Amino acid sequence: MKLSISSNIHDYQVTIEHSPDFFNDLCNIPSRCFIVDENVWTLYKGTFLRNLSEKDVIIQPIKEELKNLDSVQNLYDQLVNRSAKRNWTMISIGGGILQDITGFAASTIYRGMRWIYLPTTLLSQADSCIGSKTSLNYRGYKNLIGTFYPPVQIHIYPPFLNSLKDIDYQSGLGEIIKLFLMGGCEHYRNIIQLMAELQMRDPEALSIAIQEALKIKLSYMEGDEFDTGFRNLLNFGHDFGHALESASHYRIPHGQAVIFGMLAANCIARRRSLLNNSVEEEIADALLIPNLSIPPSIDELDPEMFVQAMQKDKKRTGDALVLIMMMDNFEFFKANDVTPDEIQFALNEVISSLKIK
Ligand SMILES: NC(=O)c1ccc[n+]([C@@H]2O[C@H](COP(=O)([O-])OP(=O)(O)OC[C@H]3O[C@@H](n4cnc5c(N)ncnc54)[C@H](O)[C@@H]3O)[C@@H](O)[C@H]2O)c1
Ligand SMILES: [Zn+2]
Repeated sequence: MKLSISSNIHDYQVTIEHSPDFFNDLCNIPSRCFIVDENVWTLYKGTFLRNLSEKDVIIQPIKEELKNLDSVQNLYDQLVNRSAKRNWTMISIGGGILQDITGFAASTIYRGMRWIYLPTTLLSQADSCIGSKTSLNYRGYKNLIGTFYPPVQIHIYPPFLNSLKDIDYQSGLGEIIKLFLMGGCEHYRNIIQLMAELQMRDPEALSIAIQEALKIKLSYMEGDEFDTGFRNLLNFGHDFGHALESASHYRIPHGQAVIFGMLAANCIARRRSLLNNSVEEEIADALLIPNLSIPPSIDELDPEMFVQAMQKDKKRTGDALVLIMMMDNFEFFKANDVTPDEIQFALNEVISSLKIK
């Protein structure tokens, strides 16, 4: 499958690869430098990456705490030491953290170096690889710094997913579920059908889920690449989700926190009569709760902490809290007037439906 994406920066192409042969062409690019996620390098240096010698590769340690300007500066140093020039191509291989560090470096060194990306986690293959964003954490604030800079080519090779740890795989499933819900009722029914196979990492099901998730994300990005309006809706599940990630000190991975966030947002939508009771219940019981494999503990659900974290939302412009909500007919809506009382209500509801003690 090939997906062509038009961008205000430069158009780019996403290819789902069924054979590893595509990698030979990348190795033959004349002036290129590979930057590889340390864990991916360890796992694949004897197989998929065997044609790369250690001197061809910059190995990047991966930790959320390293997604910062220091790592980017370190990368600039290594590129300069290798006499990288503006006409070089940077080829990144790894998950979302590697994508963000290398994408930011590629967009800023020499005011933009040609950049190719091979996502290796489910989250990066099904979601983050498209959309042009690069983000770094700054002084404890997540994704505060960033640029818009898509790769010129994205090659998705699903067999990379076989080696993912369960926790990282379950995180990616959370984002896929969000995108399928945002794709409308038919997609919602389809993901329920696919779920058992996805849980088993069935290659066919994965290929379908990745393609569809990317197409749905694209439909929300079109016309709003720089995220000033409609694209904001992709933040569904992320308002409560980010708060839970930080309340759990990142014990709960991003995509799992997003599943929790969707449950909570749907409670408020139901209370506001935007979402029919039975639809909310069906989505929770059939899709969200069964796939919340890493649920929060009671001490990670302090309402005051949630309100404070949600007040930090960088997309908030006034005093009230912002929340993306799902409505009947699978339409989405951004409310700018959510109250602390509603946050407390949603947390109580989720605590009781998940039977958290
Ligand atoms: N730029 C964007 O648009 C965007 C969008 C969403 C998320 N993100 C960012 O992405 C990051 C999360 O990305 P992620 O979920 O891909 O996690 P990640 O990059 O932290 O990777 C998860 C773990 O899997 C390892 N790994 C990578 N590929 C592997 C493979 N094939 N087999 C085994 N292990 C592998 C990594 O080394 C890491 O330990 C966050 O920092 C988030 O902010 C960015
Ligand atoms: Zn996300």
